[in-house]
Amino acid sequence: MDIIQFTTQPKRVNPKSGDGMDPVLSKWGNNLVTKFHVLMRISQIYDSKNVAIQQFVQECLEAINTLVQREGPLSLKVIRNDFFLNGQRLRYSVEGFTSFKYLLTQWKKKLIGEVIFNSLVDEGMLKHFIYTLMELEEGRQENANLFNEALARNRILTIVVNPLEIVEGEEESFTFQKEDQREVGKKVFFETIGTIKEVITQIKGRQRADIRKLKRLAQKAVHLVIEDESILLGMTTIKNYDEYTFNHSVNVSIYSLAMGKRLGFSKKTLTELGITALFHDIGKSKIPIDVLNKPASLSDDEWGMMKKHPLMGVEIVLNLKQLGEINPRMVIGIFDHHLKNDFSGYPKLFRKKEISLFGRIIQIVDSYDAMTTPRIYKKVPYTPEQALAIMLKERTVHFDPILLKIFIGLVGIYPIGSLVLLNTHEMGIVYKPSHDPRWLDRPIVLLVDRGKEGEAKKEVVDLTETDGMGRYKRSIVKTLDPFKYHIDIAKYFL
Ligand SMILES: [Fe+2]
Ligand SMILES: [Fe+2]
Repeated sequence: MDIIQFTTQPKRVNPKSGDGMDPVLSKWGNNLVTKFHVLMRISQIYDSKNVAIQQFVQECLEAINTLVQREGPLSLKVIRNDFFLNGQRLRYSVEGFTSFKYLLTQWKKKLIGEVIFNSLVDEGMLKHFIYTLMELEEGRQENANLFNEALARNRILTIVVNPLEIVEGEEESFTFQKEDQREVGKKVFFETIGTIKEVITQIKGRQRADIRKLKRLAQKAVHLVIEDESILLGMTTIKNYDEYTFNHSVNVSIYSLAMGKRLGFSKKTLTELGITALFHDIGKSKIPIDVLNKPASLSDDEWGMMKKHPLMGVEIVLNLKQLGEINPRMVIGIFDHHLKNDFSGYPKLFRKKEISLFGRIIQIVDSYDAMTTPRIYKKVPYTPEQALAIMLKERTVHFDPILLKIFIGLVGIYPIGSLVLLNTHEMGIVYKPSHDPRWLDRPIVLLVDRGKEGEAKKEVVDLTETDGMGRYKRSIVKTLDPFKYHIDIAKYFL
């Protein structure tokens, strides 16, 4: 793309309320904030080379460049708790609220107050910009300078950032109000992925891993699951095969916690189960990456190596810095997670033993998450429905049948994140189970509109809702395969 250089400064209008803002400008401004938000989030899960971010980069580029083409140089600035677009206050729409709040919080934490796009932006520039922004340490005074330097090093001279100006009397209001549960859920989810990644890097570098942070995160997750499990369950629709191990460990942990909750575990036991699940595949960190990601089937030797991961996991966990945080139940859980109900799994045992409860739980949720996640050797995964059907077929051989039954009750007939077709010809994503457990087949659904600009959030509907005559307004006809419809389910839970 040709980069047009503008020599002028952004059109500055004295800060005023956005009431007078041109509605088209306001619409594009809102769009910009939303696209920024999504891209910032996505950049925390995928690295910049991952193809999965492409679509989000393009959408954000379009948002920026449309405005630059229209307005010339563009300034997005934070003043108190508002964003100003070229000096005019941007009023946010109801749907845009989360994005505004996220951007505001992130920029403020990183002490970034303004971003100026002096000319059209291309893909490479935007990626550098986003990843540099996300890497800034919170609360560091010199962030804006560091940011500009980093951009300059990459020959990006047309994007300029300025530090946050703290307006007098604002300090207190800047402390973050109690974030809503969903925000907390996202934070816990992404932080846990980041922390697991750190722990694995430490292990690979033969350092002793510090698990205190993971324990704290597991405790937060336990709290959240007890309060409202649908939030974290929604996050499990984020399936990333490039960062499979980290993402998978966190998903397995979330499902395990929801299982433990149903089994009446205490908070302490739930935390232990959560940590065990986070560590269940830690032994894989000793397996070469090309074996883990091999697109073809594994040779006998490679399989032999793979089958050692539960035992290697035990070894790693026993070498942790805070061994005191680990108890035998957790170690055995890791060892057991591939044994299978009829001991047809691995490692092979000389004498049969009872398979631990932690091991039996993880076995089930691990299989489900693995089957429903795209992998390098199976790009199109099973839908939740297909995965459950396969697991049911194998139930007595591979799984504890009673626990499997509980798991199916948990993910429901229509697991959170399923794409469904309704009798009204609308398409929706299962967002939450019904408030009433009797209505397993009538969950809360987010309607997905597939207009010209792709999918967009429309509205959340409750399938137990009836019309005046007592007839259900909407019912599920069947589930659909999101891959076929090119719908990225995870986007709707971010
Ligand atoms: Fe495993
Ligand atoms: Fe696993």
